[in-house]
Amino acid sequence: MHHKYAVVLAAGQGTRMKSKLYKVLHPVCGKPMVQHIVDRLQALAIDEIVVIVGHGADKVKQQLGSNIHYAFQEKQLGTAHAVMMSEGLLKDKQGTTLVVTGDTPLIKKETLQQLMSHHAATQAAATVLTTVLADATGYGRIVRGEQGHVERIVEHKDTNEDERQIKEISTGIFCFNNELLFKALSQVNNDNVQGEYYLPDVIGILKKQGETISAFLTEDAEDGMGVNDRVQLSQAEQIMRRRINEAHMRNGVSIIDPSSTYIEDDVVIGADTVIQPGTFLRGKTLIGEDCLIGPNADLTNTEVESGVTVQYSVISDSMIRREASVGPFAYIRPGSDVGEQVKVGDFVELKNTRLGNFSKVSHLSYLGDAEVGEGVNVGCGTVTVNYDGVNKHKTIIGDRSFIGCNSNLVAPVTIGEGAYVAAGSTVTKDVPEGALAVARERQSNKEGYASKWLRKEK
Ligand code: UD1
Ligand code: CA
Repeated sequence: MHHKYAVVLAAGQGTRMKSKLYKVLHPVCGKPMVQHIVDRLQALAIDEIVVIVGHGADKVKQQLGSNIHYAFQEKQLGTAHAVMMSEGLLKDKQGTTLVVTGDTPLIKKETLQQLMSHHAATQAAATVLTTVLADATGYGRIVRGEQGHVERIVEHKDTNEDERQIKEISTGIFCFNNELLFKALSQVNNDNVQGEYYLPDVIGILKKQGETISAFLTEDAEDGMGVNDRVQLSQAEQIMRRRINEAHMRNGVSIIDPSSTYIEDDVVIGADTVIQPGTFLRGKTLIGEDCLIGPNADLTNTEVESGVTVQYSVISDSMIRREASVGPFAYIRPGSDVGEQVKVGDFVELKNTRLGNFSKVSHLSYLGDAEVGEGVNVGCGTVTVNYDGVNKHKTIIGDRSFIGCNSNLVAPVTIGEGAYVAAGSTVTKDVPEGALAVARERQSNKEGYASKWLRKEK
């Protein structure tokens, strides 16, 4: 059994981001960079994942959870020093160690897999993942000997005139024979422009010892892109967004305008769903088949079943069932459950509210903490008065009842099944099943009053 380990470098502050948020926690398509990397590694069945933390260690650990190991790097003395921090967990173990920098969120699982296969096939002591960039500024350059073998890696700041012309760069991602890695690490010094212990120096050290060094060159230059500042962050965002959109389109989802469609990494969408421009699908959002989402829909952690329409609306942490229709201009807040074939129309706000199948809330209503049965018609301008200034209270509306326009339902209150509430009522008492509640001033007409008043004013 050949063991695989991974070390993720995530201890840096990320000075160039000019941010209070630690670099590796900056999100790309809604997920922190370092989480993207750990997710990929977990999908690769690595035996042990060690994340090197330093700046913001608690926050990083909180993000990544307890399924992985952590090693602490108190002072950021360089990437070799960072890997060294995993010594207690990994040294003397037999196997292959993958080292990934925490700021390369675009690295694909498949590329990591190819890197590892290449490493195994060449029986190298170390394999570096390289790519060719038109503009290699900032990256470590791959220096190859006459036969084309990798000799060493030189950091941008340490390059001479000739080396600066090299377009093949180190992505900062490596595969190592674990035992040889830790032996070489102890020989790395900080005799360079930045005064840091560079991980790339391990390549030169192993080479000098006569070990086989290999390079795996990925054609997909975007894969190895490092994010050091906000410009690169926005470039990574754009690339990942394009990749996510294309994957959905290949799975049978129509995206009318990918450049104005923002879908986060964990979103799932069924075939034949159409996503219209201006749509944001975030978090753990799940969309069924044959839906029409957008234009301008913003959904977070929401499950949408098949055949649903959502237009110009915002929905979070809610459930929208089969063939329901939401919007235009609806706002559905957490804890809501919209039943099958329900209509939630324009300027309707729901909060923690369940709407039974076939019910309608067509216009201008606020329902909060309400439990609405099946086949209910909630008239225009209905408001659940759910807050008394201290506590929230529940409104229960029975099946097939009819709430007239401009009603206030003062909670806690129950409207029985098949009951009617007259338009303009302020209901403060329960309404029995099948009853009609009228809770407003009776109308009186004063004959001729208006005309008389007008004559006097003239
Ligand atoms: C690094 C590589 C460079 C490569 C590039 C690819 C070194 C010296 N340079 O440069 O060859 O082309 O990545 O993107 O390795 N970190 C720590 N502890 C430290 C220093 C860094 O954990 O003491 C972490 C950072 O949080 C970051 C990663 O290591 O996630 C890389 O560090 P960074 O400063 O971004 O290195 P680059 O200059 O980009
Ligand atoms: Ca970097």
